[in-house]
Amino acid sequence: MNYKLIETKFFGDETGHLISFEKGSNCPFDIKRSFYIFDTIPGKIRGQHANRNSEFILIAISGSCKIRIDDGKTYEIVELNTPHKALYMDKMLWKEMYDFSYNAILLVLTNTLYDENEYIRDYQEFLKEGSK
Ligand code: TYD
Repeated sequence: MNYKLIETKFFGDETGHLISFEKGSNCPFDIKRSFYIFDTIPGKIRGQHANRNSEFILIAISGSCKIRIDDGKTYEIVELNTPHKALYMDKMLWKEMYDFSYNAILLVLTNTLYDENEYIRDYQEFLKEGSK
């Protein structure tokens, strides 16, 4: 399964903490876009899509949530619950984000500009393209 937990670069001292991601150090791609998901409604599932070109790094910078990662053959669930944990996901993985805590902020970094055409929002289509 093409995902992994990546090492965060942590800088902390008595005044506070800072974590960085930098290409060539702990980020495998050129970061072209960043967005964050917050104020999620309890019980709702986000995502439910795969991306033809986008790779992602996801970090729960506040609170927690679960990520269900599906490669079309099997699935695994990763819980993000600390800013110290960063999840890298390759393209062509079906993802669902759920169980957001009330204060969750999920930060996402990616290698692409937003393009709705690279989204696969139909699971059967994902299975079809993934098996090619
Ligand atoms: P969507 O991808 O469905 O969110 P999630 O993966 O959290 O379920 O995106 C929600 C809306 O936001 C959709 O109308 C597309 C828009 N959007 C952008 O315009 N730019 C972006 O970078 C992203 C991620 C979404």
